[in-house]
Amino acid sequence: MAIALILAAGSGERFGAGRPKALVELAGRPLMQWSVDVLREVAEIERIVIALPPGTPAPVGVMSVDGGAVRSESVRLALAAAGPGDPILVHDAARPLLTAGLARATIQALIQDESIDAAIAAIPMTDTVKRVKDGLVSETLDRSELWAVQTPQVFRRAALERALGVSDEVLAQATDDAWLIERAGGRVGVVQASAENLKVTTRLDLRLAEMLIAARAA
Ligand code: CTP
Ligand code: MG
Repeated sequence: MAIALILAAGSGERFGAGRPKALVELAGRPLMQWSVDVLREVAEIERIVIALPPGTPAPVGVMSVDGGAVRSESVRLALAAAGPGDPILVHDAARPLLTAGLARATIQALIQDESIDAAIAAIPMTDTVKRVKDGLVSETLDRSELWAVQTPQVFRRAALERALGVSDEVLAQATDDAWLIERAGGRVGVVQASAENLKVTTRLDLRLAEMLIAARAA
């Protein structure tokens, strides 16, 4: 059975609420509660561990740990506290519009392909992406090959544990955990997700999430 790790230990500096982003209210619930409520519906998940800023009360029915200084350190700490279970689903609390269907599809993608070490949610890029140096374009990337990566990301436990066993410097560079698998030579499969699974980084994102939730209910 799978274990879900929810990452909610960030400070939310870009959001700027003066308190952890995970506690900011979205349509009547703390941001982190949305992910908890969705992942509790997924039958393949037997346990949920949430990484929180020290001193934050845990949501009901969920085991909690104090998060680390950087995101992947929070993953390492949550995994160490998780007890037995495989595979490991990692999800950012900053993506409250996750669906049970996407979580399940990502778990199934990993289970059904023995050749991969991880399966990650992502969407094809719609914007054109250019590399810019000192205010000047140095390169235009081929959009047909570019995907914007999200969570959930689901890992074979042994592969994730190995990938997390790196120096603190490398850990600090990781903006997602799949990168740690890639740099160790692992294979990462992609599951097509939806742009609705947006990441709340700024207040604009929170407003968009509120509108999408209101539209779901209508
Ligand atoms: N996260 C975490 N532990 C950290 C840093 C981040 O668990 N040390 C989590 C955040 O809570 C969030 C997810 O990782 O759910 C993605 O990070 P991000 O959106 O960057 O959130 P914050 O780090 O809180 O925001 P900011 O970078 O603006 O401070
Ligand atoms: Mg951050």
